[in-house]
Amino acid sequence: MLLTTTSPTQLPAIASEIIAFAADTRIFLFYGEMGAGKTTLIKSLCESLGTTETVTSPTFSIVNEYIGESHKIYHFDFYRLKTQTEALDMGYEEYFYSDAYCFIEWPEKIPDLLPLHYVNIRIHVTGHSSRDIIIEKI
Ligand SMILES: Nc1ncnc2c1ncn2[C@@H]1O[C@H](COP(=O)(O)OP(=O)(O)OP(=O)(O)O)[C@@H](O)[C@H]1O
Ligand SMILES: [Mg+2]
Repeated sequence: MLLTTTSPTQLPAIASEIIAFAADTRIFLFYGEMGAGKTTLIKSLCESLGTTETVTSPTFSIVNEYIGESHKIYHFDFYRLKTQTEALDMGYEEYFYSDAYCFIEWPEKIPDLLPLHYVNIRIHVTGHSSRDIIIEKI
């Protein structure tokens, strides 16, 4: 599925579409350069799932936890990860193989730890406030 945005104001509508498309798949991998809009889209996804807390980048803690309406949400940012062992040490499996939504920024850092099935989201910057968002289920 390809979605195009010309403004962040369109993200709430796009987030609902992505959640519907994902159906029972609750692990989402976000690919895109720095500043592409991974965190910004995740914020809208969390709001779409009923989170009322403030969603910010978990860069310094690796994972943030939010409470959605019907599921917990774990938001990872692996950008600062030096080795995959650090993900093992933080107990990533407890999160990935729970019933919660997992939104993962910089999955490139954990190539050997990815689950079998997930939703892949690729964000391409096409202009100052426009993005192409490509979503596929694996
Ligand atoms: N259509 C759009 N969709 C998403 N973000 C947009 C859009 N237009 C402009 N932006 C802006 O782009 C920036 C994206 O920053 P964001 O922190 O979400 O990127 P990121 O991909 O998470 O980067 P990082 O890899 O550093 O974590 C924000 O300032 C946001 O307001
Ligand atoms: Mg980010």
